[in-house]
Amino acid sequence: MIVETPTDLAESAGRLFLEAARIASAERGRFLTALSGGDTPRGMHRLLGQEPLRSQIPWHATHLYWGDERCVPFQSPKSNYGLAREDFLRYIDIPEDHVHPMPVGLEPEPAAAQYEEELPEVLDLLFLGIGRDGHTASLFPGQDALKEQKRRVLAVKGGDPRVMRLTLTLPAINRSRQVVFLVGGREKSMAVQTVLEDPQALLPAAHIRPAEGALSWILDKEAASRLTRISRV
Ligand code: 6PG
Repeated sequence: MIVETPTDLAESAGRLFLEAARIASAERGRFLTALSGGDTPRGMHRLLGQEPLRSQIPWHATHLYWGDERCVPFQSPKSNYGLAREDFLRYIDIPEDHVHPMPVGLEPEPAAAQYEEELPEVLDLLFLGIGRDGHTASLFPGQDALKEQKRRVLAVKGGDPRVMRLTLTLPAINRSRQVVFLVGGREKSMAVQTVLEDPQALLPAAHIRPAEGALSWILDKEAASRLTRISRV
């Protein structure tokens, strides 16, 4: 899906979140979703904490996870959980034990092992962003983590900021029922085109192929500006 503006991006993602929440809670009694980090999803996150979305989402049936996290204090402006708390968690009526931040208070390796225990086998909806280098979650080009076939959460180092991070692995991501890339801005247009139109480049984001689930992209016009074949999104 290609939308005009960043506001459209946030609104489209918010509607998709609501739809997925309604379907999952109706079919399975609960909605298991993982959020991405960085700046791109913040517009959507803010909408989740405001009317009309806030009161339509079945928060009592929803469990929130994260696709990756920086090993920094939640108070840090670099914390994905900390930003989500600022943007919407503090405004919604969700049971406390339904919010599952990655345990960054532990050393990275034990934190990854603990989160692996907490993470559901199959998520209903997982959001991803993409970096200019084609990374997604905290899976960066050339990292051994891209080769992981068994572990579902790993501790890695990389990105900007270059810190220790926790990330879902490809096996964990590709088990999801629905994976949605949310991408905005011209600075991502090259990475988007490479992932969608040059599969040989095999950027980390190109490894996202849900085994049985659905993969979709919500792009603003800027991020989609280099696409020659828009049929793929
Ligand atoms: C993170 C994210 C990461 C992000 C991309 C895009 O923790 O950094 O999960 O994968 O989605 O780096 O980040 P922006 O949205 O800030 O451009």
